[in-house]
Amino acid sequence: MEPVATTESGLPIPPVCDSRTLDGFDAEAKLGAPGRYPFTRGVYPSMYTGRPWTMRQYAGFGTAKESNERYHQLVNAGTGGLSVAFDLPTQMGYDSDDPIAHGEVGKVGVAIDSIDDMRTLFQGLPLDKVSTSMTINAPAAPLLLLYELVAAEQGVPGSRLAGTIQNDILKEYIARGTYIFPPKQSLRLISDIFAYCHRELPRWNTISISGYHMAEAGATPVQEVAFTLANAKEYVRTAIAAGLDVDDFAPRLSFFFVARTTLLEEVAKFRAARRIWARIMRDEFGAKNPKSQMLRFHTQTAGVQLTAQQPEVNLVRVALQGLGAVLGGTQSLHTNSYDEAIALPTQKAARLALRTQQVIAYESDLTGTVDPFAGSYVMESMTDDLEAAAMELIQAVEDRGGAVHAIEQGFQKSEIENSAYRIALQIDSGERTVVGVNRYVLDEEEVYEPLRVDPGIEIDQRERLAALRAERDNGAVERALDALRGAARGTSENVLPPMREALRLRATAGEVSHALRDVWGVHVPHDVF
Ligand code: 3HC
Repeated sequence: MEPVATTESGLPIPPVCDSRTLDGFDAEAKLGAPGRYPFTRGVYPSMYTGRPWTMRQYAGFGTAKESNERYHQLVNAGTGGLSVAFDLPTQMGYDSDDPIAHGEVGKVGVAIDSIDDMRTLFQGLPLDKVSTSMTINAPAAPLLLLYELVAAEQGVPGSRLAGTIQNDILKEYIARGTYIFPPKQSLRLISDIFAYCHRELPRWNTISISGYHMAEAGATPVQEVAFTLANAKEYVRTAIAAGLDVDDFAPRLSFFFVARTTLLEEVAKFRAARRIWARIMRDEFGAKNPKSQMLRFHTQTAGVQLTAQQPEVNLVRVALQGLGAVLGGTQSLHTNSYDEAIALPTQKAARLALRTQQVIAYESDLTGTVDPFAGSYVMESMTDDLEAAAMELIQAVEDRGGAVHAIEQGFQKSEIENSAYRIALQIDSGERTVVGVNRYVLDEEEVYEPLRVDPGIEIDQRERLAALRAERDNGAVERALDALRGAARGTSENVLPPMREALRLRATAGEVSHALRDVWGVHVPHDVF
């Protein structure tokens, strides 16, 4: 029977059992055991039968105080790990009182300018017990160091800190845009972070190499996996070229993918990604430690598939997407709130998002087994097909000189834009159904009162910054920032130790980023048409 349906990547969905999988299927050779190379079936032998995934809800808005309150609410509601959303000025390396920050302070995430803000953000939260993800890229180093400094004030040594910084600058050039420095300097900074964490923060996941944002920009599952793993190869090559041993830093690389509503292909995507990465790390980079070959990842349900129309329908979408992430073996999961297509999630919507994960974890039988789709004719075919297509696209990036050169040629960006355009045409024509949007629509939608961020936040934050600058020893701060500039000018000194000293003296995150801008300049994208 000919395939009648194709996946988001344009690959066939086997309509019925076909001989390619059942007859010639060799489970041991093809799949191996869970927790063993090539990890197709999951990175841990016991997976959720040993420990459920981490329920890690991305949250943060307004001032550190407000976000701290939300974190306590989430911990009390049962969330297993924290996930900090920063506002745009923080993500772009500007302080809240920088003119460019006007109107954005505390809007899409929390405003963090200094050690004082970081201390408030984690007030009352035991940093030796929680694991904290920080979605921060270009200024990942100063925010990580502020976290380490606040933990030290709590008496928690770096060796006990668990968490992740996103720190994935290449996808920022491709799809998200929160970059600061040119690629060469950005990659140097990332290698310095790898080396620093290996020494000072051995449990810290130094990077979350992300396909999510490229997927949200329109990438197909094949493009999402291929461009993410091609970026990952670039980071590994850079760290090795900087003199690091692959098994010293690779165990702390982590990944971040989307979960779309097309559940079958998403499960195949996660399984294929693990197998591809395991082979790349063992065969191309000679990684010996199995932890270097394990693709551990976080998943967020697809924000771009949420609709503002009939928003409660998003509860169903998120449940399906979350189910796909779990069937695919995610280590950590964020489920979107149903009202997020309208505005910042209300507390009730955020709680429902978490409850969705808790129903999957504690009311379903899914945590009773590992990789339930293993051996399924449709799943193994789709995993194989997706793996082959992704490997081909990874090679296309490598043929262009690797991820950075391909980015400079605009290759990934144009491939993703073509996919996004195709999806838009399919929705407009009705070929692709979006319930509530182009089919099953309501004549009149309910009116939702979105959660608004108080504009007074910006004034409060600016006043706190003025007080900090008046109280601190500005001479000592300036000398520390000069030491940072000196380290950045050279090529052998790790920039994190002088950066940490400046932050300890209450230099702001923006001042640290400006000191690096003084030496490294900023990235100016040249558009390729
Ligand atoms: N058997 C044995 N050990 C197990 C186990 C099992 N079944 N399950 C878990 N464990 C162990 C692990 O080995 C680990 O031990 P370690 O700390 O010694 O390494 C510990 O239990 C914790 O397990 P995981 O590491 O698997 O789970 P975590 O939740 O701690 O980490 C991660 C998951 C993916 C590795 C990590 O990088 C992470 O948490 N990432 C989150 C990233 C994130 O939240 N990003 C948000 C992005 S939002 C954004 O970008 C903006 C928006 O616009 C989208």
